[in-house]
Amino acid sequence: MSSACVTILPACLAVLLAPGFVQGRQTAPQPVTFDESEVAFIESFSPLPAVPDDPTNAYDHDPEAARLGQFLFYDQRLSSNGQVACVSCHDPAQSWTDGRQVGLAPGAERPVERHTMSLWNVAYNRWFFWDGRADSLWSQALIPLENPLEHDFTRLQAAHVLHDDAKLKDAYERVFGPLPPLDEEARFPAAGRPIANEPEHPHAIAWTGMTSEDRDAVNRVFANVGKAIAAFETKLVSRRSPFDIFVEGLREGDLRKQRGFSADARRGLKLFLGKARCFVCHTGANFTDLEFHNDRIPGAEGVNMDPGRFGGIEPLMTSEFSGVGPYSDDPDGKARDKVAFLRRPVHEFGAFKTPTLRNAALTAPYMHQGQFATLEDVIHFYSTLENAVPTHHAAEKILIAVNLLEHERRDLIAFLRTLTDTSLDPALLSPPEAP
Ligand code: HEC
Ligand code: HEC
Repeated sequence: MSSACVTILPACLAVLLAPGFVQGRQTAPQPVTFDESEVAFIESFSPLPAVPDDPTNAYDHDPEAARLGQFLFYDQRLSSNGQVACVSCHDPAQSWTDGRQVGLAPGAERPVERHTMSLWNVAYNRWFFWDGRADSLWSQALIPLENPLEHDFTRLQAAHVLHDDAKLKDAYERVFGPLPPLDEEARFPAAGRPIANEPEHPHAIAWTGMTSEDRDAVNRVFANVGKAIAAFETKLVSRRSPFDIFVEGLREGDLRKQRGFSADARRGLKLFLGKARCFVCHTGANFTDLEFHNDRIPGAEGVNMDPGRFGGIEPLMTSEFSGVGPYSDDPDGKARDKVAFLRRPVHEFGAFKTPTLRNAALTAPYMHQGQFATLEDVIHFYSTLENAVPTHHAAEKILIAVNLLEHERRDLIAFLRTLTDTSLDPALLSPPEAP
């Protein structure tokens, strides 16, 4: 590296002389350089900006709501068998996931048919779940609570849990105002929720037997439970990885900050932005375009065919808890544009949300059905598209086999490992003593 290079082109600061092994042969040191346009592109991946506001949740940055939400996230009383909490599947010790191929609630006989998603940087998303069937973090939380394969709870039971525990009641009312008179048994049965396809279910009968005003009051409590949990999840941010420090070093011309970023990782980064084409979908500072693509990954054995985004649109458009519904804090705002323009085109069949790659090194297995056990398996698939499912009407033209050589795959993984940062306020890793 000449000194002229350092003074004239800031991009040259990225030059690194490293002892390299290329295809198993020792070669002369390979400098890894980034030109100016590459540096500008790299800077679009870091830093991750502050968490965006969710206008549909007026409490998303409210510390008291977040504390209540954290308490509820860890609380197994919000389940029919008393064993299931959000943390059962989203465990901080496992990078907010469960390490399983597909989710399985404690005490459940059957798993859910999808892989548990990590909660790192979850508040940066536009859509939630692999199929995007929730349009806000708060409305997402309500779905596992009532899913028979997860918490198997009902909104009426959840409201009673808050009401019957003096500390919880107090915490709730400090943030959201008074709870309805849930001790009036004739108005508020112990359990109940709407179940459209099973109107004879006792929970459905209890629910439809209530007045519409009382149902609305319970829905509001339920939505607030989601808003509190979302305020907690909004704090699960990862943005200070070795990659971020490297980019900061590039930007500031600080060689010390660049030094920790190995030659392998630099070559991997170059591949990520070039030959491997990962940036096409994993773009921006959270390494996702926030949208859906059909990666043509073969389904896992024994799991049903998954329609992906195609199946997620209808439940969102009909949800009373969407951003345009009566429980949104901004029904006429940006959320309206998001939901109003939704269509259900067939090319969405088999498309899934592009996940973040931050902390991906810690969240194996991978993909919507946990099809791939390791990052090596993931890269093998993108390299070869081996066994890729035919897409019929839904060809994803931007997905092509990128044919990476063995050493290129290793470098790409070395780069992905630099996206790891698990530093978090330790107080978030367990329930607070009081809500
Ligand atoms: C039985 C295990 C299990 C439990 C319990 C559970 N989850 Fe999940 N979680 C999953 C699975 C599986 C998915 C993906 C499901 C899908 O896409 O249909 C998921 C997805 C999510 C997502 C979407 C993330 C994204 O990027 O879109 C969030 C947020 C989330 N869960 C939060 C919660 C909260 C909050 C609770 C408690 C109220 C909870 N989960 C309870 C397994 C679980
Ligand atoms: C066509 C868009 C697209 C391209 C190109 C792409 N990805 Fe993905 N990626 C996705 C989508 C969509 C998923 C989720 C797919 C699913 O579950 O079916 C995904 C999932 C992943 C996952 C799993 C993450 C998790 O939490 O389960 C990893 C790792 C990954 N991609 C890395 C890469 C790398 C590395 C490249 C470049 C070689 C790449 N991706 C190229 C869209 C893409």
